[in-house]
Amino acid sequence: MKIAALLFTLTVWCADEPLGAQLYRKHCASCHDAGGARIPTQAALRARSGGSILRSLESGVMRTQGAALNRSERRAISTWLGRTQAVAMVAPNRCRDAASVPLTGEWTRWGGGAENMRFQPTPGLRAEDVPKLQLRWAFGVPDGTNVRSQPAVFGGRLIFGSQEGVVYSLDAKTGCSHWATEVGSQVRTGIVVDGGRVYLGDVGGMVYALDFETGKPLWQRRVDDHPAALITATPAVSSGRVYVGVASFEEALAVTPSYVCCTFRGSVAALDAASGQVIWKTYTVRDPARPGQPTKSGARTLGPSGAGVWASPTVDERTGIVYAVTGDNYSDPPTVTSDALLAFRASSGELLWSKQYTAGDAYNGGCPLPDRVNCPDSAGPDHDFGAPPQS
Ligand code: HEC
Repeated sequence: MKIAALLFTLTVWCADEPLGAQLYRKHCASCHDAGGARIPTQAALRARSGGSILRSLESGVMRTQGAALNRSERRAISTWLGRTQAVAMVAPNRCRDAASVPLTGEWTRWGGGAENMRFQPTPGLRAEDVPKLQLRWAFGVPDGTNVRSQPAVFGGRLIFGSQEGVVYSLDAKTGCSHWATEVGSQVRTGIVVDGGRVYLGDVGGMVYALDFETGKPLWQRRVDDHPAALITATPAVSSGRVYVGVASFEEALAVTPSYVCCTFRGSVAALDAASGQVIWKTYTVRDPARPGQPTKSGARTLGPSGAGVWASPTVDERTGIVYAVTGDNYSDPPTVTSDALLAFRASSGELLWSKQYTAGDAYNGGCPLPDRVNCPDSAGPDHDFGAPPQS
């Protein structure tokens, strides 16, 4: 009798539970209730709007989880979980005057110049000046809880991309907005300004060129077809070419025991700056993944994989060489090109040489879990190069 009563109570409780809550429990709670090193907790997700969560499930880093649901289910979860539904993606605090006054000292790419030295000679800043810096203005990014895109400063404008996939051009003096352009998904790359164009990539694996003055999209290009591909490395623009590093979140998908890990390979691609056409693309892992040895827990595997490029490439125009650094492998067998510095011929993309700094580093989201189903035998240490080399 007691069991029957309990079952009855449970049934009633489930029927009362909103659809979004039920779907969340089934499809999201295993990762987000506990949270983790890189997984936002349920409370953190609740700080986002429903629209923002929906975008993440449809075109952002949760798009593989979202693909397992239909549109009305994605909406139900987002509405239940998020703060509000609609947030206008327009530019707030519009500038009255189209003209901007250029500032002394510009910053138009990841490391200042193509050599990535990160040195700003004009007007220059000494360590003892830092405590004297004062807030000039602040800009509230609509519906954002973080900003990961390093701004570019040029022609009196400050340009950066948002968590919601909106690129803003602000007046560097006052913080009013000249334009806001929506791209496909979240922008984690820094912004490059070169030759009247603005270049960036998004977590959907897309690279964009926008018009500097108006924000009008000029071209967009997907450089990798892998469903988990993303771009966080700021593109490097030099002599009419855009060099792009590609990484992915496939490593995290290996949390799911039934996921057969992994097939993504990092790459560097050279695009024509005017048209976005791909001139060459070279993988950091030479051979495509094939079925490999099962893991210790007996899970099927695919490899080699990984060695994503998370940091902006560095261009040496004098020698015609493009340098890039890589992260870990996701599955066995480990390759000699993970956690390594790679040198490519700028004209053809040929890999000239590579130097590895941590050998045998295959690791994925299955490794920190108790049953380690998808964890490769090499099991880490999960290093990545996050900053570019200097030349
Ligand atoms: C297998 C584990 C896993 C599952 C299942 C999962 N997530 Fe996530 N989620 C992650 C990880 C890991 C991140 C961080 C990814 C990153 O920032 O690169 C994340 C990030 C997010 C973010 C923030 C993304 C952003 O743009 O910053 C949202 C929103 C989100 N998840 C929603 C969901 C919803 C809704 C579900 C259920 C439909 C879900 N997740 C299921 C692992 C998971």
